[in-house]
Amino acid sequence: MATTADVEYNYLGKTGVKVSNICLGTMTFGKQEGGPFNFYDTPTHSDEKMAHTLINRFVDLGGNFIDTANVYTGGSSETIIGNWFQSKQSNRNDVVLATKVRFNTKDKEPNNLGLSRRHITQALEGSLQRLQTEYIDLYQGHGWDNATPVEETLRTFADLVRCGKIHYYGYSNLCGWQLQQVVDTYKTLGLQPCVTLQQQYSLLHRESEWEPFMVCQNEGIAVLPWSPLTGGLLTGKFKREGVPDASTSRVGYMLAQKAFGQLGAWSQFSGDDQYWQIIDVLKQISNENDKTIAQVALKWVLQKSCVASVVIGATSLKQLEENMAAGSTQWQLTDEQMEALDTVSPNNKPYPYNMLWNARNAGRYNPFYEKSVKIPKSSI
Ligand SMILES: NC(=O)c1ccc[n+]([C@@H]2O[C@H](COP(=O)([O-])OP(=O)(O)OC[C@H]3O[C@@H](n4cnc5c(N)ncnc54)[C@H](OP(=O)(O)O)[C@@H]3O)[C@@H](O)[C@H]2O)c1
Repeated sequence: MATTADVEYNYLGKTGVKVSNICLGTMTFGKQEGGPFNFYDTPTHSDEKMAHTLINRFVDLGGNFIDTANVYTGGSSETIIGNWFQSKQSNRNDVVLATKVRFNTKDKEPNNLGLSRRHITQALEGSLQRLQTEYIDLYQGHGWDNATPVEETLRTFADLVRCGKIHYYGYSNLCGWQLQQVVDTYKTLGLQPCVTLQQQYSLLHRESEWEPFMVCQNEGIAVLPWSPLTGGLLTGKFKREGVPDASTSRVGYMLAQKAFGQLGAWSQFSGDDQYWQIIDVLKQISNENDKTIAQVALKWVLQKSCVASVVIGATSLKQLEENMAAGSTQWQLTDEQMEALDTVSPNNKPYPYNMLWNARNAGRYNPFYEKSVKIPKSSI
């Protein structure tokens, strides 16, 4: 029974299903050494006991939405969740469970990847076994598959819905034209619609606002932002001087492994004035609201209208409780605070937005036309 269930429950896109506005991300459950992503063996990852403690507390605080993927920690994340269901610490039906398919789980096996009918059906059987369940609530394509016709993928998802193995499907990590192709295809073929888009989205990653989120808004697809704290970078816990510690944070570990992808080395990052300006504005707003920096960063994402639930990560009970409190209905950021964060965070306009989108269309908002977009003042 939830002790402080003041998280909000939103519809999972155009479905009648309600999910907590905080979704528990489980990429840090279990470990995988030498796996495809170096961060799967981060020192802060949770072992099974700790993972179960986190899920129990999440549910206790009103959370009912859990996200995993067949590739997370080589399948350990799904196994740990399955063992939790099996231990009867909760009723399977109380949880809306999401997992994903697309990437390969075995090297050198040419058909162990993609969104073909063959791979999706095989991967789903593996996930159902590890998760010790008969159905997945939300089955997500983990990314685009350039080789498989989208018709084949969508017919497969539709068949899996018809036979009850999945209830809904969504996608993750798509660009605008890909999502629009998905939409046009399910509409043309009269198949089940895609209900969610799980996308990297935070004050440091706003690229999806330009294209994918426009499609979501037009088509009623719910956005599920992942890495809302950019892996911990939006918590204010890293100092400009000195390098983040490799043994106490994923950010520090990835820097030490030189696996920091788009963000480059810390020296490059610590020299990025815009990042520190975002932290400063977050700090100021967190003081105004008597909240933490992480809570304000999460609230900014939560208050975006296309978002149904934010996929958080937590490696301790303290982090989990702090992040869950961001989902509380008891506090909101004001329009001015949202505006200040919109303005300080990078969202460089690509062409043709920089040419005619904002200035020419801001005055062309038509409330009688459902696809007309209200352009925020900060992006004009
Ligand atoms: N669809 C996709 O392709 C995709 C990709 C990535 C992730 N995801 C999903 O999104 C979930 C969340 O991703 P994420 O873990 O990157 O999310 P995140 O919220 O950006 O980062 C979470 C990490 O930040 C640190 N942290 C969290 N709360 C904190 C707090 N209050 N104070 C200080 N540090 C805090 C923790 O790492 P340390 O303790 O190690 O610092 C934690 O693991 C994943 O579990 C997964 O379900 C999906």
